[in-house]
Amino acid sequence: MDNKVSSQKGSLWLLLLVVSNLLLCKSVASVPICSNGTVNCQMSLQDLFDRAVVLSHYIHNLSTEMFFEFDKRYGQGKGFITKAINSCHTSSLSTPEDKDQAQQTHHEELLSLVLSVLRSWNDPLYHLVSEVRGMQEAPEAILSKAIEIEEQNKRLLEGMEKIIGQVQPGAKENEVYSVWSGLPSLQMGDEDSRLLGFYNLLRCLRRDSHKIDSYLKLLKCRIIYNSNC
Ligand SMILES: *[C@@H]1O[C@H](CO)[C@@H](O)[C@H](O)[C@H]1NC(C)=O
Ligand SMILES: *[C@@H]1O[C@H](CO)[C@@H](O)[C@H](O)[C@H]1NC(C)=O
Repeated sequence: MDNKVSSQKGSLWLLLLVVSNLLLCKSVASVPICSNGTVNCQMSLQDLFDRAVVLSHYIHNLSTEMFFEFDKRYGQGKGFITKAINSCHTSSLSTPEDKDQAQQTHHEELLSLVLSVLRSWNDPLYHLVSEVRGMQEAPEAILSKAIEIEEQNKRLLEGMEKIIGQVQPGAKENEVYSVWSGLPSLQMGDEDSRLLGFYNLLRCLRRDSHKIDSYLKLLKCRIIYNSNC
């Protein structure tokens, strides 16, 4: 009986604690609560940029390795490079072509372009993973990279949303992205055509991940170090 009472007291106390915590959270609703339980721990813009650049570099590294892995395994003697199409599904986003053009692009526009390019890869990366998984003797080295890239792309996207939230607080959420319609090219009955479809996609991924990585390095330099780097 005593035990029951004290456990009821215990749960009441717990309930009060939960309620007061809820109230506390409400009063600081705009401050995110960290996974380590501390309140008021918004990451600094510099930390966010550091993380984003590490991620984008990692994604570019994986995309490059995946592209070469694929070419080594399936591209020998196929002449994919001469048959590849030059445009990517993200071409319509008109990103700066080179460093000079990127330098001249306003940082708000560049941030928003990075976000759009990342969003445009959500769908094709999802399908890339499932199509590679369905390949005969699914090549582990390629599959594991595709899975990792899909996941890290999402993390980078979240990081970019936080960065934009700090750089342009109150800015309207950018939902712009390019629709990918390349799924049939990964499902062609003819093997060579199908492999060419993969080749095109992996080449575009490598190219876009390089763009994102260089824009982010440039943005970090401009915004965090006032271009002194
Ligand atoms: C919790 O995380 C934040 C942000 O990463 C960090 O600044 C803070 O020091 C951490 N607190 C503890 C108690 O580890
Ligand atoms: C990717 O990173 C690994 C580990 O740091 C490195 O050994 C490899 O050369 C990198 N690959 C490319 C294509 O940069």
